[in-house]
Amino acid sequence: EQIYIGVDLGGTAIKVGICNEEGQLLHTYEGPTEVEKGADAVVNNIERYVRLILEQSPYDWDQLAGVGAGVAGFTNVRDGIIILAPNIGLKDVHIRSILEQRLGKPVRIDNDANVAALGEAWAGAGKGVGNCVCYTLGTGVGGGIIINGAIYQGFSGMAGELGHMAVVPDLEAIQCGCGKIGCLETVSSATGVIRMAKDAVERGDRTSLAQVENIMAKDVFDAAKAGDEAAIRIVSRAAFYLGKSLAQVSAVLNPQRFIIGGGVSKAGDILFNEVRSVYAKLTPEPLQEGVDIVPAILGNDAGMIGAAGLFLH
Ligand code: BGC
Ligand code: NA
Ligand code: ZN
Repeated sequence: EQIYIGVDLGGTAIKVGICNEEGQLLHTYEGPTEVEKGADAVVNNIERYVRLILEQSPYDWDQLAGVGAGVAGFTNVRDGIIILAPNIGLKDVHIRSILEQRLGKPVRIDNDANVAALGEAWAGAGKGVGNCVCYTLGTGVGGGIIINGAIYQGFSGMAGELGHMAVVPDLEAIQCGCGKIGCLETVSSATGVIRMAKDAVERGDRTSLAQVENIMAKDVFDAAKAGDEAAIRIVSRAAFYLGKSLAQVSAVLNPQRFIIGGGVSKAGDILFNEVRSVYAKLTPEPLQEGVDIVPAILGNDAGMIGAAGLFLH
């Protein structure tokens, strides 16, 4: 039996998973990324965790047919280079060639949200749906476009950077980690939600969040569910711009399904209801026909499964 290893390279943790050809996760391992030690240390860690997981598992080295990795940032898929990963602090890392040399196995890389989208399309909320678009709402906002069951790469492998769709009007826009203004990521990421909450507290808005020591996105959702009006406004704002971006993506790509995952999607109905209603308001009726907006189901496994799936799609 051939196996594949999928790597999810994030800012704090590297998750590695052994996957079979059916997209089943057989074994997982997680270790720290250690970004603060520099790019070499990060690559060393990936190599180390890949070797470790194989040792711990009942599979052997010969069965390993390839290692795929999803990276949170702009990736040049063709050349296997991390161009810029602002949330991890990596720039111009030729990760594929280094890993191939060290491991002596084929290596493929892609953007974290692209591989999560592939994972969901292959074995999750998009199973059986050939055309879907996936958003991951975490530290940043990631996106992945699946067309006919495969990731749509675009010219240089950077298609699907949906978090950088400029949806916020200039007068309200703030600067994004990418250097531009008005990006979806500035409002619909966990970082964006937390920032809006802190702003509300600083402005002196009446809100229960003023009592929270170190506000997390979940605190904002909990407060919104409990009826806190300032928190409701923040969640609505995150949902509004997300819904607006879905409407625009619909007009461009006409996907059958939108899949929304990541920490912020845990807000549940308060977020989804609003996204669906904004989408319905902004999207021409014929384009809405047969289209649905659903939560992701693979959670943190999507990245590992999809990264392994880079060899099978
Ligand atoms: C990056 C994307 C990434 C997303 C989620 C964004 O800031 O530009 O490449 O997919 O965060 O990690
Ligand atoms: Na992407
Ligand atoms: Zn941006």
